[in-house]
Amino acid sequence: MYLLIDDADLTAIRRIYDCYPVDGVTTNPTILSRCGGSPYAVLKEIRAFIGASAQLHVQAVSRKAEDIALEARHIVNELGENTFVKVPAVPEGFKAMKQLKKDGLRFTATAVYTPMQAFLAAKCGASYAAPYINRIDNMGYNGIETARTIHDMFVNNQMDTMVLAASFKNSMQLLELCIHGIGAATAAPEVIEGLVKNEAITSAVDAFVSDFEQLAGDGADMRSCN
Ligand code: G3P
Repeated sequence: MYLLIDDADLTAIRRIYDCYPVDGVTTNPTILSRCGGSPYAVLKEIRAFIGASAQLHVQAVSRKAEDIALEARHIVNELGENTFVKVPAVPEGFKAMKQLKKDGLRFTATAVYTPMQAFLAAKCGASYAAPYINRIDNMGYNGIETARTIHDMFVNNQMDTMVLAASFKNSMQLLELCIHGIGAATAAPEVIEGLVKNEAITSAVDAFVSDFEQLAGDGADMRSCN
């Protein structure tokens, strides 16, 4: 399962990249508005940091299909080959997706709340469909089940589209989808860090260090003892 960071804050992105095996970054207009400043300045800094081969997902905001297609080309020209254009899974979005497929651009269907949207996105040739787990839960449905259903639909129909699950409120949701074999998940830095944030883990490691220091002295490690 690909794991991406759902944020545009370079400090947070660096922090996650420093420790964890992540495959890229996803953004949306709300995330960019939180950063402020020029969207392309922020996105180009992210691209420079993550490198040309990492995935970067950037959303088109036009309402009309023709404008979305032009915007998509511009986004990829500015941010490089491995940029996936996020296109909302709405009627004009599907119209745009069909054009993007013809243009050879890769795209992620976003704002996916139902398997029906994901079905249409896959038929349009989307690389990913992004169900919003937490937001689906908040509507009284089951976000995890929705993502699993979409994944099964793609697999059962031999569709090339993968699930890119988004909008997580906790790390266990992410793990549940990984166990089910979905293609990708994007999560806020705190949710990724939550995968290993656990008192039991911290105290086990502290106990090992403390026991070793009692044996070999303060600050000792396996290089400094015989
Ligand atoms: O990019 C869309 C998705 O990540 C939204 O997440 O946390 O705003 O529901 P959230």
